[in-house]
Amino acid sequence: MPSPRERWHSRTAFIMAAIGSAVGLGNVWRFPYVAYQSGGGAFLIPYFTALFTAGIPMLILEMGIGQRLQRGAPGAFAAIRPKLEWFGWWAAGLSAAIVIYYSTILAWSWVYLWHSLDVAWAGDVEGFYAREVLHKSAGPGELGAPVWPLVLGMALTWLSIYLILRRGVRNVSKVVMVTVPLPLVLLAVLLARGLTLPGSADGIRYYLTPDFAMLGDWRIWLRAYGQIFFSLSLASGVMIGYGSYLGRRAEITNSALITAFANCGTSFFAGFAVFSMLGYLAQVQGLPVPDVTDSGTGLAFVTYPMAIAKLPALQAAIGVVFFITLLTLGIDSAFALQEAFTTGLHDKWRLAPEKLARVFVLVAFPVSLIFTTRGGFYWFDIVDKWVCDFGLVAAGLGQSLIVGWLYDVRDFRAYLNGISEVRLGAWWVWALRVVTPAVLVVILVMNLKAEIEATYEGYPRWATSAGGWGTLVLFAVLGWFLWRARGRREAA
Ligand code: TRP
Repeated sequence: MPSPRERWHSRTAFIMAAIGSAVGLGNVWRFPYVAYQSGGGAFLIPYFTALFTAGIPMLILEMGIGQRLQRGAPGAFAAIRPKLEWFGWWAAGLSAAIVIYYSTILAWSWVYLWHSLDVAWAGDVEGFYAREVLHKSAGPGELGAPVWPLVLGMALTWLSIYLILRRGVRNVSKVVMVTVPLPLVLLAVLLARGLTLPGSADGIRYYLTPDFAMLGDWRIWLRAYGQIFFSLSLASGVMIGYGSYLGRRAEITNSALITAFANCGTSFFAGFAVFSMLGYLAQVQGLPVPDVTDSGTGLAFVTYPMAIAKLPALQAAIGVVFFITLLTLGIDSAFALQEAFTTGLHDKWRLAPEKLARVFVLVAFPVSLIFTTRGGFYWFDIVDKWVCDFGLVAAGLGQSLIVGWLYDVRDFRAYLNGISEVRLGAWWVWALRVVTPAVLVVILVMNLKAEIEATYEGYPRWATSAGGWGTLVLFAVLGWFLWRARGRREAA
């Protein structure tokens, strides 16, 4: 007899875990920058439009389908149409790909946490990042040896993931009670420091001054949809897997709303912490704020550390707070990703959580060492770009079409309304059937067009083909094998 499915400790635990996966580095280094670049305060209009017409409908779909079918992504899609199991494996495979490179950012954060103790980057911040930390080579063709502090950071990251996941979902229930609130408290500390510095008001003014004219540019609207998708951790099987550990009568719609608002609220809040500090940095350097803004790894590992080094006091303390914030923001996204993939393996082969966590980490850790080599940064950048801009967008498109058109979505809505606190209207069906797929098609075509016109960041074609398309194809092939393999249930 199969043992009963694992369960969350409580509804709060489920919601916290969902928030933990959604709230990640993207809230701190992507949202504030995208908002600032896309009309400041006015960006909230496309952002909330995207949230209500695609983000929340998809989140409800994912949590709901996991809960109703009691399986992770591969099993859930198999229940809709047997052949679609392959698609489920591919989506879950993307989350395996993401956790393997996402761990790189955590490895860097460990290394910076160490260097915070004596603010080692002060002076030449950019050079420190490229030379002392990454030992960056000239290009993706020049891989070089692994850089040992990064290997150590990587090992710490995987060890943490293993220790958290080996006791399964019940343990996740406990861990997220710390890893979700802690970064919020730390962000508040950083905000308090930022706001009391000269120039912070200028930074915040840049962040929020609305520019309504920019809303006429349809690309801003697409960017809002892209940000919402990434930020809510959609289309990678994560929310399906988490939903599958809910009990049969568990509430869905309100939990999804709470998750979405907590996530977007955190993004908005993080913007204040980031921009108050950038305003200060601009003032110290006598530059306009736009000249010191940056997104992505540049913000976390160059610009923000630069501001820290210019603080009048307590530099090391603020450095430690900042990098612990990054680590606690990232770790619950990382184990959510791994869990999305291993839930599929568990469903098919009934493997114990400890074994799944161990085997996954023992395979993933050596693979992730590619990103700790001297050329690793370039491969990280390529894989990230392809998995997010092509992989997740395609997976989201497939998912909305499959559930919208092949699954009895009206019956699904009635089911959700039967167990949930917030009733779904007919709008939900149309958001899934029409709005979401239409937007995702446009995003996908735009991304492809841009890539055909000029390779991403000027990387050589062979490198983007191998690292970008290669990763997507690799997981498609892997998904095919996992789909064709005989599961425990069939074998018995
Ligand atoms: N939402 C995460 C962030 O904002 C990033 C992310 C995208 C993610 N897709 C995911 C995290 C899937 C976990 C699972 O940083």
